[in-house]
Amino acid sequence: MEYFELYNGVRIPAVGTGTNTFGRDDEDLKSVPTGNFKPMYTALEAGYELFDTAISYGNEEGIGECLKTVAPDRSKLFILGKIPNRAPYNCDRDSIRKSVGDSMKNLNIEYFDLFLIHQPVDYKAAAEGKSMDVETTVNLYRALEELYREGVLRAIGVANFNEDQLTVLMNEVETVPMANQFRSNPAARNRPLVEFCKENKILPIAHSPMNFTAGAFRVDEVKAADYRKIAGMVGSRYGKSWAQVLLRYNYQLGICSIPKSHIYEFQKQNLDIFDFELSRGDMECLY
Ligand SMILES: NC(=O)c1ccc[n+]([C@@H]2O[C@H](COP(=O)([O-])OP(=O)(O)OC[C@H]3O[C@@H](n4cnc5c(N)ncnc54)[C@H](OP(=O)(O)O)[C@@H]3O)[C@@H](O)[C@H]2O)c1
Repeated sequence: MEYFELYNGVRIPAVGTGTNTFGRDDEDLKSVPTGNFKPMYTALEAGYELFDTAISYGNEEGIGECLKTVAPDRSKLFILGKIPNRAPYNCDRDSIRKSVGDSMKNLNIEYFDLFLIHQPVDYKAAAEGKSMDVETTVNLYRALEELYREGVLRAIGVANFNEDQLTVLMNEVETVPMANQFRSNPAARNRPLVEFCKENKILPIAHSPMNFTAGAFRVDEVKAADYRKIAGMVGSRYGKSWAQVLLRYNYQLGICSIPKSHIYEFQKQNLDIFDFELSRGDMECLY
């Protein structure tokens, strides 16, 4: 495993695993959970240290059960959590502290290695065209700062914030976010945001590193196949798959990635990206 370092000195694995559909048998976050946590067990077996969790994935208890059963050395794990920026979680200091406490209890952990505000604005407000409820978001972040100072959260940050939203937040709070998690893949490179984060010592974390057919910048399957083909052609020069090439691309740009697979072979493959280096020409070809 290779690591990046957050600006407060906390080391974070350069690749972790997403968990959003663990406990389900499909990719639909709204489907009824089946309780199938086999991918969580195989991810632990494959050697993952970083687990990207969130209250809104609705599967923390199942993940916590796996952690309790396997009981890996906690100091070798990196548990990332997220709080939704909406009621009933973000209402006030008490509800925020309760949400973080409940989340840790469900996951069977006593601290988070990194904890993020899941989005700058709740979905309903976003649908109404609102960018960010500054007061609510700042209060939410300040409550996380308090938990950071208490040592319950080893690091804090945000997810899905753009440059303007980060700027507004940074002007209001003491602690610059240590990380920002956002979509970063060939369909949505978000390179200006990556650069902005780096200029401010904020670690970019790529969610959906190979999921091109979802989210705001989604493309159709034909275009997605095209991205896979280009990355696959590059990969053939190194004996690597298209997925490994995309993860390596992020790594070389200083971006942490949290790919998710339900398949053990793919889980292992996604960790196996540290024994080759993409040439400058290949990096350009992948942009
Ligand atoms: N902060 C946020 O708002 C946010 C939003 C979205 C996601 N996330 C986080 O980011 C994680 C990853 O995002 P994601 O699940 O949307 O997308 P992703 O990890 O980019 O892609 C997942 C898809 O890629 C397939 N896959 C994985 N590894 C592969 C490989 N080596 N070869 C071929 N196919 C492979 C998976 O299928 P199989 O399972 O069949 O392998 C799955 O269909 C999530 O689990 C979640 O934790 C965060």
